[in-house]
Amino acid sequence: MRIETLPELIPAAPRDTGLDAAPPDLPALAASGALGGSVALYRQPRGPDLLRRSGALEEWCQLRMRHGVWPYARKLDGPPAAMATVEGDGLLPSRGINFASQDYLSLASHPAVQEAAMRALAECGPHSAGSAILLGNSRHTCALERALGELLHCEHTVLFPTGWGAAFGAITALVHSADHVLIDSLAHASLRQGAAAATRNVAAFRHLDCDHVRELLAGIRAIDTGGAILVVTEGLFSMDADSPDLPLMQYLCREYGATLLVDVAHDLGAMGPGGGGIIAAQGMLGKIDLVMGAFSKTFASNGGFVACAQQSVRRQLQLFAGTHMFSNALSPVQAATVLECLRIAGSLEGDGLRAAVLRNAVELRALLAGEGLKCIGDPSPIVPVWTGLESATRIAGMLLAREQVFVNPMECPGVPLGAARLRLQLMAQHTPGQIRRAARLLVSAVQRANMAPRPVLRQTAPA
Ligand SMILES: Cc1ncc(COP(=O)(O)O)c(C=O)c1O
Repeated sequence: MRIETLPELIPAAPRDTGLDAAPPDLPALAASGALGGSVALYRQPRGPDLLRRSGALEEWCQLRMRHGVWPYARKLDGPPAAMATVEGDGLLPSRGINFASQDYLSLASHPAVQEAAMRALAECGPHSAGSAILLGNSRHTCALERALGELLHCEHTVLFPTGWGAAFGAITALVHSADHVLIDSLAHASLRQGAAAATRNVAAFRHLDCDHVRELLAGIRAIDTGGAILVVTEGLFSMDADSPDLPLMQYLCREYGATLLVDVAHDLGAMGPGGGGIIAAQGMLGKIDLVMGAFSKTFASNGGFVACAQQSVRRQLQLFAGTHMFSNALSPVQAATVLECLRIAGSLEGDGLRAAVLRNAVELRALLAGEGLKCIGDPSPIVPVWTGLESATRIAGMLLAREQVFVNPMECPGVPLGAARLRLQLMAQHTPGQIRRAARLLVSAVQRANMAPRPVLRQTAPA
């Protein structure tokens, strides 16, 4: 599919973005230094003074901000809807098409979800006021545990205050130093950091590569039959929009006496029959050892969970996952919100919302591919547009923001160095007109960014 007309190929700065109204001077931007460098250079500053040694990082961030290529820690003014008002450092509020929020089925603005949240607020107040292991549970959290168990065909569920906490807590509670973790090389930081905190025996397998998993499992079992092995992957990879072969991965785990953990943060609710995610789509409901997820992408709330078949595993998580035990429980408002979202996701209305977001994704991918842009992964609510170079990503993100199209330019540490991309997260609420406008402007922005002068890249860490 090709975009028929490209009247907006030359981006003009809109009046209300807060950016300089003049067209961006890309050669000057390249010469400024704001397109070079990476967070990776500043990760481990040297020196004895913890409070002063981050100065070089701050200078680099300020340089990027001054030149309009620091698209982070922006602020939403209002709900995370398809049209949203965004403010950034040095930017006036700008209203535009929002592909930078995570609300795949647009449930955050659903009246029934908002009513459920208000009812829980009126009934229980805003706060859980305790860890789930003490008195932090409410009837809403208990009902949520049951509802998740039913959706996933898992008897037992443990809730966490964030998805991050679920990932980190699950791995550190179950795996100890004599055990092994095999983890997809592109797994989310919460999973990687959980693995690193649990044991030194961590190996990354090539992204989605089951042959590599088999080879690593065989290697471990050849020398260690006593240690446990946890294999970690995701249902839908959040930066790459692709999925593993779960039946094969679970089969390999059984063959080598390993356990499979699948993070369904991005696909549960938003994909698969009945909203059962990639696990349901691959016919694996009730057959995956450990399922963990987050409520922050589709279920209009913060929070996370781990689901399993064994009460003993549930108990281990409750007592040894620090992020569960030593953190206040999900609030009644959050739990009631997620419950209502689960109800909608499992209804006919949910089928319609999933169809709408997928239609948007397929349309956007087709429009971009027709103009020669590379979208990686498979159709899903996540559309990663490959740019590769960090400099091109920064320019394209800035040009898009000037046209009131908000995307997340992704670079290290979210993705590996040299594998930068623009990530668009679609919603059911996006209209065909918004998709077409975004596609036109994306093509223009990426083409301009690719033709811009290359910056001189700093290869070494600053002193
Ligand atoms: C795959 C994956 N797992 C876990 C998390 C953490 O979830 P939360 O942001 O809800 O804490 C994220 C968040 O970005 C994620 O993408």
